[in-house]
Amino acid sequence: MTSTPLWPALVVVVLLLFSVASAQVCLLNPYRYYVVDGPEQVEELSRNCTVLDGWVYVQDNFTGSFNLPRVTNITGVLSIGNYLPSGLTDVQLPDLEYVRDFRLSGVKNASLPRLSVVEDSVKIRSPSNGRYHFPSLTAVERISVSGNLSRKSVTFEALRNASSISIDNRASRILRNLTTTVVDISFPVLERVGATHIVGNISSFSAPELTTIAPNTDFSSAMIWFEPFEPGLSVDLPKLAFVAGSVDFVGVVNNVSLPMLRNVTGDFKIETRSTESIATDLAIEYTDEVELRGNIDRVALPNLRNYSKIRVYPDDAFDCDGLAEQLNGTVTPPVIRRENFFCSGAETLSSRWGTVVGAAMKCLVR
Ligand SMILES: *[C@@H]1O[C@H](CO)[C@@H](O)[C@H](O)[C@H]1NC(C)=O
Ligand SMILES: *[C@@H]1O[C@H](CO)[C@@H](O)[C@H](O)[C@H]1NC(C)=O
Ligand SMILES: *[C@@H]1O[C@H](CO)[C@@H](O)[C@H](O)[C@H]1NC(C)=O
Ligand SMILES: *[C@@H]1O[C@H](CO)[C@@H](O)[C@H](O)[C@H]1NC(C)=O
Ligand SMILES: *[C@@H]1O[C@H](CO)[C@@H](O)[C@H](O)[C@H]1NC(C)=O
Ligand SMILES: *[C@@H]1O[C@H](CO)[C@@H](O)[C@H](O)[C@H]1NC(C)=O
Ligand SMILES: *[C@@H]1O[C@H](CO)[C@@H](O)[C@H](O)[C@H]1NC(C)=O
Ligand SMILES: *[C@@H]1O[C@H](CO)[C@@H](O)[C@H](O)[C@H]1NC(C)=O
Ligand SMILES: *[C@@H]1O[C@H](CO)[C@@H](O)[C@H](O)[C@H]1NC(C)=O
Ligand SMILES: *[C@@H]1O[C@H](CO)[C@@H](O)[C@H](O)[C@H]1NC(C)=O
Ligand SMILES: *[C@@H]1O[C@H](CO)[C@@H](O)[C@H](O)[C@H]1NC(C)=O
Ligand SMILES: *[C@@H]1O[C@H](CO)[C@@H](O)[C@H](O)[C@H]1NC(C)=O
Repeated sequence: MTSTPLWPALVVVVLLLFSVASAQVCLLNPYRYYVVDGPEQVEELSRNCTVLDGWVYVQDNFTGSFNLPRVTNITGVLSIGNYLPSGLTDVQLPDLEYVRDFRLSGVKNASLPRLSVVEDSVKIRSPSNGRYHFPSLTAVERISVSGNLSRKSVTFEALRNASSISIDNRASRILRNLTTTVVDISFPVLERVGATHIVGNISSFSAPELTTIAPNTDFSSAMIWFEPFEPGLSVDLPKLAFVAGSVDFVGVVNNVSLPMLRNVTGDFKIETRSTESIATDLAIEYTDEVELRGNIDRVALPNLRNYSKIRVYPDDAFDCDGLAEQLNGTVTPPVIRRENFFCSGAETLSSRWGTVVGAAMKCLVR
């Protein structure tokens, strides 16, 4: 050692020197746990290591830009920031390709152009105006992004599958009156995902190649849940064909287009409180319960073959007879009013919305 070590506790052991001189694996310390709170430490790390074997924790009191060039692999968790507003202005990890688990909190902007594999999860808590792009990420188990995002702020350009995706664009989970920016979410090549939760002020969710919602591993579950706030969401999933679980669109849903959706092993539900009424043709052949509530004008289920119950509670006029007739003779079990087919305009919407829609029976069950 030529100089005084910056952190006496740190024992950097250079384990291997590959033929490529730049590949250096550093065992961070015997505990494989490393705390960063200043730029000198970052500099030294990136000067000596390309693989960090351990857990890297960047503290809240780190100020300025966290820039870690040369490091391609962090074998443990990389955790940047905490729940507090951070002094970190931005995060640059220009060479990082692999990390076991990635957590980012309180940082608006992060650049990870080469990150392609995250073994476990990407977990982001965004401050106002957060913006996150993962142009090279091809493999990750779970994605969770929450906070007050900025428009066009969530894009995973290369991701084809994941076990779960959760995007929650809310300033607060308790106060519903706090406004957030409306967000567009894009997964241009996503084909398969398990549990999917999309909540908050989200106007579009684009996943043009998505065909399957099913568990990615034996231990995960699958379902799709959209809960959009004002001004509402238009859902267009042009290739989605199969959902091994339930489908729920609950909230300000302006339009639903699911032209290829054939099989839903769980229940299928739309509960809209949009001011624009929905008219939708559902291609579903097999499902369990179908429940439709709210501002719904018209629903067609021309391909339905098998189901257990159909319940329709529209706010306004709705052709219940037409729907019953359309299903009569084509479905198993056959439509028997009151037993497996309910259609009424006099229901109370879920109290969660605080809206009571009552009054006139617009569509009587005879
Ligand atoms: C990092 O490498 C420099 C030489 O490039 C060396 O002087 C220094 O001791 C190394 N630091 C650690 C912690 O190994
Ligand atoms: C950051 O906070 C830790 C305690 O949480 C403290 O040990 C450290 O000295 C602080 N660093 C700076 C640069 O303020
Ligand atoms: C990351 O480094 C660890 C430790 O050397 C190694 O086992 C692992 O295969 C590396 N992963 C990648 C994707 O390079
Ligand atoms: C994010 O960081 C990149 C690179 O430093 C910069 O070009 C971009 O303007 C930043 N975006 C925001 C919203 O701060
Ligand atoms: C939101 O509602 C809470 C409690 O109902 C109230 O204290 C707060 O002032 C409201 N905030 C805004 C921005 O309206
Ligand atoms: C959603 O965003 C729009 C546009 O910024 C805003 O007008 C609206 O109040 C927001 N809604 C919520 C619930 O934050
Ligand atoms: C969310 O972010 C937007 C845009 O930066 C801002 O106008 C709004 O006040 C933020 N909402 C809250 C509750 O901080
Ligand atoms: C998910 O994608 C990765 C990388 O593209 C691939 O290796 C894996 O087999 C895919 N898993 C599933 C269940 O499709
Ligand atoms: C609903 O979305 C579909 C597909 O994007 C589109 O063709 C249709 O015009 C939309 N309907 C309304 C009322 O916006
Ligand atoms: C839907 O389910 C039926 C009956 O289980 C099966 O025959 C069909 O192949 C499934 N279709 C899709 C697209 O999964
Ligand atoms: C149709 O659904 C019922 C349950 O509602 C089930 O008992 C029956 O086996 C199903 N029939 C076919 C042909 O899938
Ligand atoms: C179904 O069709 C049969 C025979 O045409 C008719 O008797 C029955 O009332 C119809 N049921 C419904 C629910 O429309």
